[in-house]
Amino acid sequence: MKLVGVSGTLAGEKTSVAVHSVLTAARHHDPTVETELIDLRDFDIEFSAGLPLAAYNEDTRKVVRKILSADFLVFGTPIYQASLSGALKNLFDHLPEYAFRHKVTGMVATGWTNKHFLVLEYHLGSILSYFKGLVPTGNVFIQNHSFDTETDEITDKRINERIEKLAEEMIYLQRGIMNRNKS
Ligand SMILES: Cc1cc2nc3c(=O)[nH]c(=O)nc-3n(C[C@H](O)[C@H](O)[C@H](O)COP(=O)(O)O)c2cc1C
Repeated sequence: MKLVGVSGTLAGEKTSVAVHSVLTAARHHDPTVETELIDLRDFDIEFSAGLPLAAYNEDTRKVVRKILSADFLVFGTPIYQASLSGALKNLFDHLPEYAFRHKVTGMVATGWTNKHFLVLEYHLGSILSYFKGLVPTGNVFIQNHSFDTETDEITDKRINERIEKLAEEMIYLQRGIMNRNKS
């Protein structure tokens, strides 16, 4: 079972650290789970212009292929203007409508104010549902002050617990989908 994490920032470290933590927690919970982190800072994703995927550069095609071949996924976004990042939204615009059918799609976000924690439910969650992703009941919103200012490590124990719970729920749900599809 392969879990792919996507970090949707082109700027700092926090979102990437958060997504990486979910992948680590998943492997810890179930060592048979394979993981891969897609950090959008490492790829030159072109702006979606409504063209077939073949019209875009190698990085865009590679990232879309990795996402479509994952069994389940976790998406991380920094909160930008009370929404998800444009970089992540642009990546979604490259995907087909049924991209996440039979896939669990978890969510984490980082932001400076907890006033925006519902962005995950109302913005990112509705996009993932549009693509037929199964969105777990748990998600993780991490305020900037929960990261160490020097190392960007997550220092809040409660956040780490939420990350572990999210990873556990995602594995549980994905196994359920896969077992149902076998029968
Ligand atoms: C353009 C811009 C808009 C932002 N808008 C918000 C916002 O509306 N709400 C919020 O809580 N944080 C906002 N932030 C703060 C980032 O979400 C926060 O610093 C995040 O942890 C950065 O993640 P990164 O280190 O992975 O890039 C904004 C940051 C930028 C650069």
